[in-house]
Amino acid sequence: MKAFAPLPVSILSLFLTLLLVPRTIAAYFDIQEPQAGRQWQNGAANPVQWKKGLLDDITAFDIEMGRISVDGILFVAQQVPAKFTALNLYFQDVPTGDDYYMTFMNHTHGITYAISPKFSIVNSVSGSQPGPIASAPTVTVSGAPNPTATFATMFPATGSAVSIRGLHGWASTLLTVMCGMAAGAFLVFV
Ligand SMILES: *[C@@H]1O[C@H](CO)[C@@H](O)[C@H](O)[C@H]1NC(C)=O
Repeated sequence: MKAFAPLPVSILSLFLTLLLVPRTIAAYFDIQEPQAGRQWQNGAANPVQWKKGLLDDITAFDIEMGRISVDGILFVAQQVPAKFTALNLYFQDVPTGDDYYMTFMNHTHGITYAISPKFSIVNSVSGSQPGPIASAPTVTVSGAPNPTATFATMFPATGSAVSIRGLHGWASTLLTVMCGMAAGAFLVFV
């Protein structure tokens, strides 16, 4: 009859913790430009470059830019095809600062794939900085980070939704089964 005793709080909290474990997608996704301390210039095209693995079901992603010390987000580009390896960003009147960073993510469900190191936006660069990449598309980004703004550029949809959702479905099922097994084990051993 002991088996019907209410679950102790510690076991309940273990289940809750399991449910809250972030569902990470195993993936290699590395932002190669901007590097740490890179200076990007207003009134010029600046190269963003990345490398990613092929087997992660990510076929497109969204690019956002934020600052560490200032609220707000610059929505740079939406649904960038993952088969691209670079984009140029042409900045217009973006406030200067040395605490910018870039996030590659899925804006819809909020999963972040990669975060760049901190870089600067300046009105004139000092030293040599990499120039735009001729074969890559150029996206214009203007003004200050703004939470109500929309993405500067949207690339055509690529239909990545099904496989990403599929992966998540699997993760949830696995988690549910594991919780069930843990609960069963607990009942057997009391
Ligand atoms: C983000 O995920 C949603 C839902 O899975 C999907 O419909 C959308 O296409 C994804 N966004 C990108 C940029 O791939």
